[in-house]
Amino acid sequence: MRIVLLGAPGSGKGTQAKLMVERLGLPHISTGVLLRNAAKRGTALGLKAKSIIDKGELVPDDIMSDMIEERLSRDDVADGFILDGYPRNLAQAKSLDTMLDRLGQSTDVAIQIDVDLEQVIRRLAKRAKEEGRADDSGEVVRHRMRVYHEQTAPVIDYYANRGLLTHVLGDGTVEEVLERILSVLNMNQTAA
Ligand code: AP5
Repeated sequence: MRIVLLGAPGSGKGTQAKLMVERLGLPHISTGVLLRNAAKRGTALGLKAKSIIDKGELVPDDIMSDMIEERLSRDDVADGFILDGYPRNLAQAKSLDTMLDRLGQSTDVAIQIDVDLEQVIRRLAKRAKEEGRADDSGEVVRHRMRVYHEQTAPVIDYYANRGLLTHVLGDGTVEEVLERILSVLNMNQTAA
């Protein structure tokens, strides 16, 4: 199963993807994690990405498509994946389709995790205190939200128009959200 997770910063994509790995046995591909790891390693790409991430901007599409193409060419994703953080604009959505097409694959489902703005702001403020992620600070979070609404939100319609979109309420405990996701995938315990 090839799953794309969509949602605003702080909506719970990463949290849910990690839990889904355990339940579905699929690899988790997070572009945010790949970029932050490259930054920690101090590679040229990582350092360039860090300066962009810290401002809340999007890393250029050509860098992202090279990164995703390399990741999707590995054997562990042959039977599926949970993609978190990509695509983030319409160009990336089209690029992903082209890449998958070349591999004889396609996206099976896009899950949009819906959480209201006040709640995601609260979650990110809490994480800023607990983990000190540079892009969780006040003004950068507001900018990430603007970027999300202007560039990433159109991706929701892209998948809706292709009949692949399903919405899941991201409110409540992480376990409640996970059960909703598994339920739309018909993978919850009661459906199994
Ligand atoms: P990325 O790391 O993808 O950040 P993001 O999309 O902004 O997502 P977050 O990690 O902030 O939120 P999330 O939805 O994963 O929620 P999480 O589970 O962490 O990207 C970072 C940057 O990298 C981008 O801004 C951009 O610069 C660059 N980038 C990445 N991909 C790119 C791309 N494709 N193109 C260009 N640039 C790209 O949860 C958030 C917090 O809430 C956590 O503390 C968590 O514990 C908590 N939480 C989660 N669920 C719940 C719950 N149900 N109840 C209470 N708390 C919860």
